[in-house]
Amino acid sequence: MPFVGVRMGESGVHRMVRDLKGFLGYGLDLLRILRLDFKNPHSYTKFRMIRSVQRKAHCRVLIEAGTYFGATADRCSRIFDQVYTIELDERLAEKASDYLKRRKNVRVMKGDALHILPQLLQREDIGNVLIYLDGHFCGDGTACGIFPEPAVEELRLLSPYKEKINAVIVDDFRSFGSEEGFPAKSVLLKSAEDCFMDGFFETTVFLDQLLIVRTRGRG
Ligand SMILES: C[S@@+](CC[C@H](N)C(=O)[O-])C[C@H]1O[C@@H](n2cnc3c(N)ncnc32)[C@H](O)[C@@H]1O
Repeated sequence: MPFVGVRMGESGVHRMVRDLKGFLGYGLDLLRILRLDFKNPHSYTKFRMIRSVQRKAHCRVLIEAGTYFGATADRCSRIFDQVYTIELDERLAEKASDYLKRRKNVRVMKGDALHILPQLLQREDIGNVLIYLDGHFCGDGTACGIFPEPAVEELRLLSPYKEKINAVIVDDFRSFGSEEGFPAKSVLLKSAEDCFMDGFFETTVFLDQLLIVRTRGRG
């Protein structure tokens, strides 16, 4: 299909429509915030939050738990040097690999984030990382690992690699303690405090995300 003199493939058109919807969703989110009636941010609003944290904490590598179709990995490929995205469901991982194949700095990793996160962080070439924990069961067609929401265990596994980590974002804070099998919010917060409260990171909850951001030198 021609577009401003450039031929776009199916995935190019899909990305353009997705980006337009993203701007609209972000606009609606801003309106909801103005009306103080805000629940679940649009995925583009979540991307803006990732970008804001990335800038604040000087992150170069994104590791995302939970790829789904690859929308966030795709958006983030434009702002990070490297993106690693982990998906437990084999079919989704293959679909996302195909969708993201043109993004040369994105790697889709098939498997459980509980196993793959420490493996990635052990690598010498990986540092200044933003970890985006969004790999949980979310209904038909998505995977359910040992834990429907493994973020509490993932934070514990990340803790020994703190010196490589500049920020962690845990998505869907509202679902903790309310979705079946999700740990309570207090359990998640305790895990964040136990694992990251060492004077180098600040923790806050903002727009349905738990943000753990490095504010001082290396831990
Ligand atoms: C909310 S979706 C991810 C959305 C994606 N981050 C985005 O922004 O487009 C959650 C995904 O996590 C996957 N998942 C569930 N448990 C997982 C685990 N233990 N490790 C990796 N992925 C997991 C599900 O199959 C599902 O595709």
